[in-house]
Amino acid sequence: MTDTTPMPPLRIAIAGLGTVGAGVIRLLDTNRDLVRARAGRGIEVTAVSARDRSKDRGVNHERFHWEDDMIALARRDDVDVVLELVGGSDGPALALARAALDAGKGLVTANKAMIAHHGLALAAQADKARAPLKFEAAVAGGIPVVKGLREGTSANALDKVYGILNGTCNYILSEMEQTGADFAETLREAQRLGYAEADPAFDIEGVDAAHKLSILAAIGFGARVDFANVRTTGIVAVRAADIAQADALGYVIRLIAEADVRDGALLQRVRPCLVARDHPLSSVDGPTNAVVAEGNFSGRLLFQGAGAGDGPTASAVVADLIEADGDTASKGKAAKDKDKGGKSAKTKKK
Ligand SMILES: NC(=O)c1ccc[n+]([C@@H]2O[C@H](COP(=O)([O-])OP(=O)(O)OC[C@H]3O[C@@H](n4cnc5c(N)ncnc54)[C@H](OP(=O)(O)O)[C@@H]3O)[C@@H](O)[C@H]2O)c1
Repeated sequence: MTDTTPMPPLRIAIAGLGTVGAGVIRLLDTNRDLVRARAGRGIEVTAVSARDRSKDRGVNHERFHWEDDMIALARRDDVDVVLELVGGSDGPALALARAALDAGKGLVTANKAMIAHHGLALAAQADKARAPLKFEAAVAGGIPVVKGLREGTSANALDKVYGILNGTCNYILSEMEQTGADFAETLREAQRLGYAEADPAFDIEGVDAAHKLSILAAIGFGARVDFANVRTTGIVAVRAADIAQADALGYVIRLIAEADVRDGALLQRVRPCLVARDHPLSSVDGPTNAVVAEGNFSGRLLFQGAGAGDGPTASAVVADLIEADGDTASKGKAAKDKDKGGKSAKTKKK
């Protein structure tokens, strides 16, 4: 007989209701039926947390429980998975991630800085708690490159993984190319248009791309996340004259994050590079991200799309939620089957 009792919904808590957190609520509202069909059960937000309860976020969050202290989300009995969408490598985001895993809850995060610095320890904690830890949105926003590398290229030895991982830098470099303007002027324009933060240091100095590269490299090469050993140079020193000269020789300049293994050592670097006009990365303009993986059987694979923004990033976060739920369900079934196997073996012995 088949059990037709509907599954209870997966209950989630969201910490951080900024660009990504509000995007997740919008996606879950808009694609409710589709998400239920894909997940095999509904996904319901039960509680949320941010700093300012009265802020207008363009989504109705009054229907959810509010926690002033986001760590309290991890302690709630009505929460199965916690979404950490706050940001920052340490501080409250890390405390929440640890508390959620400690309580045996799944954790989905978009936080590249936290995964680059603490991914290894968090993964060990998740393993111990047998809880899912997912971070697709931490690398290249809406592009499913973590899943692409982890699953799609799993039968390959990768020669290298490289790409354009920072939309702000790519916007600035491609604008400099189009307008002939210098770096400082283009950065100001990018800030005015919302493509660069008021404090752009993490982006233009290459740190954000280095965070993402260290995560991709670990997945692609089955290595430990090793952010400390990414050699990083940003785009601050790129001049309009460099771009014009590159153009005259048939190249564009892009901030390229690249990892490969040489003599058994993982080499990771982020730096402005000349990219030949006939290479697919040369036509990646504006805030778009792109990742190339070269496998020994797959050949060259190109993943391209929006590396940021509320919609694309929410798309990656919710895909992780659906996957996390599937992982938990299949682990639960495997445990039950093992249990049944154990019992029947005992019965047979009798
Ligand atoms: N934006 C993107 O396109 C994008 C793409 C990929 C990954 N990410 C990652 O996603 C994460 C969130 O990014 P975002 O752009 O959504 O950031 P954001 O717009 O700045 O939102 C951050 C949220 O966290 C809340 N928050 C900050 N400190 C807090 C604290 N101490 N306690 C409680 N809440 C706190 C803020 O509350 P208030 O609103 O009340 O101030 C805000 O709602 C980051 O890790 C980021 O790197 C973002």
